[in-house]
Amino acid sequence: PASGVLAGRQVVITAGPTREALDPVRFITNHSSGRMGYALAAACVAAGARVTLVSGPTTLEVPAGVERIDVQSAADMHAAVMAVIDAADIFIGAAAVADYRPATTAADKIKKAEGDTSLALTRTRDIIADVAREHPQLFTLGFAAETTNMEASARSKRERKKLSMVAGNVVGPEHAFGRDDNALFVVWDGGEQELAQASKQALAEQLVALMAQRLGGDAGP
Ligand code: PMT
Repeated sequence: PASGVLAGRQVVITAGPTREALDPVRFITNHSSGRMGYALAAACVAAGARVTLVSGPTTLEVPAGVERIDVQSAADMHAAVMAVIDAADIFIGAAAVADYRPATTAADKIKKAEGDTSLALTRTRDIIADVAREHPQLFTLGFAAETTNMEASARSKRERKKLSMVAGNVVGPEHAFGRDDNALFVVWDGGEQELAQASKQALAEQLVALMAQRLGGDAGP
């Protein structure tokens, strides 16, 4: 029986990359595979939660028992999250959301011209910061993907975005993105814990157990 503190709770999770279109054939994206977010979705279902996964483009199968909403851009992901967040108890932002999008998306393929060119970029909206601001009662777990100063950035992202918990990870060609394993540095109000290198599934289970502790129970079932 699903007896833990997550049983019956509604969890919304973002996962994967976003694609920011330049024109009908080109986009800006990143190396996220979605694995960390999908592993969290499976771990939350195993703990008895009801999970909605808002996913950028990935090649992964939807974990059993998870409702997936497919999106492309950061703006699509923002809108899809806001449409389901009212019913949620927990929000997990594992997606690698683009911080900038092309200022304009050309209706037709951009033609090559003589000489160099440059791109104007516009800031996207921060999904997890908006969720935390508009729904301060939610438990929010964010990530911090960094190539340097990971621990300090994880602490400052938690405070700046007013999140319940942040899991920091080092990203780069040899780390985190797309791989089966990862290592995390988890921070919350009044505590920190390192989760050593392990499979994303094992780390997701440890993160769910830490969230359950903070919510005042165990993960169950
Ligand atoms: O997908 P995998 O290949 O398994 O790789 C996993 C991962 C490295 C992508 C994952 O573990 C991870 O770190 N995800 C967050 C990546 C990221 O964009 O981090 P960030 O430090 O730029 O953003 C901080 C937090 O704000 C994240 O929770 C992010 O989802 C959220 N955010 C960021 C920008 C934005 N516009 N909206 C957001 O919600």
